[in-house]
Amino acid sequence: MFVTLICTVFIFILSFIYFRGKYNQYYWKKRGVAFYNKHITGGPYWQYVVEDRPMFEILKDVYDEHKNDPAVGLGSFFDNTLFVKDPVNIQHISQLDFNSFYHRGTPINEDDILANNVLWLNGPKWKIIRQKMTPLFTTAKLKNMYYIVDKSAQDFVEFLKQNPDRLKGDAFDTLTHFCSAAISAAVFGIGTKSTFDSSIRKRIRVALMPTLSLNLKFAVGGVCDVLYHALGLKMFGDHEDFFVDTIKQVIKQREKDNVKRHDFVDLCVKLQKEGTMQDQDTGVKVEPTDEVLAAQAFFFFLAGVEPTAAAMFGTMLELGRNPEMLKRVHEEVDAVFEKYNGQLTYESIYEVEYLYKVFSEALRVHTPIGFLTRQCMANTTLPVGNIPIEKGVKILTPVFDLHHDAKYFPNPEVFDPDRFSREGEVSDLNYVPFGKGNRYCIGARYARVQIMSGLMHFLRNYSLNTYVGKGGVQYSKESNQVRIKNVKIEFIPRN
Ligand code: HEM
Ligand SMILES: *[C@@H]1O[C@H](CO)[C@@H](O)[C@H](O)[C@H]1NC(C)=O
Ligand SMILES: *[C@@H]1O[C@H](CO)[C@@H](O)[C@H](O)[C@H]1NC(C)=O
Repeated sequence: MFVTLICTVFIFILSFIYFRGKYNQYYWKKRGVAFYNKHITGGPYWQYVVEDRPMFEILKDVYDEHKNDPAVGLGSFFDNTLFVKDPVNIQHISQLDFNSFYHRGTPINEDDILANNVLWLNGPKWKIIRQKMTPLFTTAKLKNMYYIVDKSAQDFVEFLKQNPDRLKGDAFDTLTHFCSAAISAAVFGIGTKSTFDSSIRKRIRVALMPTLSLNLKFAVGGVCDVLYHALGLKMFGDHEDFFVDTIKQVIKQREKDNVKRHDFVDLCVKLQKEGTMQDQDTGVKVEPTDEVLAAQAFFFFLAGVEPTAAAMFGTMLELGRNPEMLKRVHEEVDAVFEKYNGQLTYESIYEVEYLYKVFSEALRVHTPIGFLTRQCMANTTLPVGNIPIEKGVKILTPVFDLHHDAKYFPNPEVFDPDRFSREGEVSDLNYVPFGKGNRYCIGARYARVQIMSGLMHFLRNYSLNTYVGKGGVQYSKESNQVRIKNVKIEFIPRN
């Protein structure tokens, strides 16, 4: 009896996998779209679960195997999934046809407090929160906030001085310390202590460690919304209480102190004073509760720390193996410090043009976020290839692959900051480290200020040497991120 049941279930599952795979092939063939035949049912998400490789690298195989196809259908258990390669189609998705593609494609369970953030929300709720968070990143705000960013950058140099073991240690880890200290300061404000000693920062670092359970939830969310909802999965349930309590306390304290610090907490106090937030078009309302604000704070860390650390790591990696470039940026940075009497200002960040080109080229070659996701919310058609897209279809679009495609960037593997000086070589169709369109990275301008400030203070005091492991740069298993694993960067004090 029991054996029969097991056999029946087993046969049922096998048939489902077989027929679903056949259906995937049929579905995309009928629409005149190429199909990735390697795992016709599970697709790249399945490969990600069973193989020890980052997701972006699996997608790069798909990209390279389908050189001339504008899009490639992917295996999936439930939602039809399309990998869209053509830059014009990508622009259509991220910008021109926003009404069909406003959804990030990440399923959220209502009671998953921290999941209600600007990165994962969709529709009117996303619009409200995005509008309310945007003022934090205007030029005027960033200028007022610069003193916070500068303190973190100075603390970074001081931290290296106090911890000489860090000079030959894990540079990515050290940079993650700096980036979490900087973002922690921008969110929660600063005191007189080093931003590196913040207990909040230390707790957050633990919360952001990738774990097996997080990877599994990511895979379930990618593969099957229905299952994700049915299981009531909470992405960051373990950290909810800590984050909500922290924000609650900090807001209360700030109200009591009644001072302006130009950080995120200032914005929280203002939003709570103003009360209910409403979307004009739909009438949808959101209360600026501690929970809602905690979710945004948490996601500034989640969306901000690793990519900024990766961008700095990529920049340092290249400076440490290109001595002429390193010399040139040292001279440039020294000159700016001299001009400003040893004290950086917001304006001075924009005066290191060559360093900015090196950083921009590092964002191309060492793209921190490998690919982006969307979900179609209304039937539509992609222009290149005339591809019909039905409501519900999940979309993946490459970032890394565009940046490494010789069609768009001649000699893509050559690190060449002067690409950014040559007319027409870099186009915002193909160079998309921060995404594109309405859901463009909200922190992009802040990231520039934080990273340039950090690099300038660092370069004033340190030089670099890079050691790349055998076989060139390799990457560790990550879902959306591009994380380099076999490169050592040594920091050398300048005298
Ligand atoms: C070099 C550093 C960074 C890189 C490369 C980066 C990259 C990206 C990318 C590719 C996206 C997706 C855009 C899209 O889907 O079209 C994104 C979105 C986002 N980023 Fe960043 N990011 C960086 C730094 C930051 C920082 C410092 C913060 C926070 C302070 C931040 C907060 C966000 C948020 C909240 C979103 C979601 C926006 C939305 O969906 O409306 N990012 N970022
Ligand atoms: C960094 O270098 C500058 C210039 O040499 C020096 O004035 C400053 O004290 C150094 N910073 C630290 C923390 O040592
Ligand atoms: C979307 O397209 C599908 C199939 O092409 C069709 O069955 C469905 O009715 C359409 N939905 C809407 C809202 O037009």
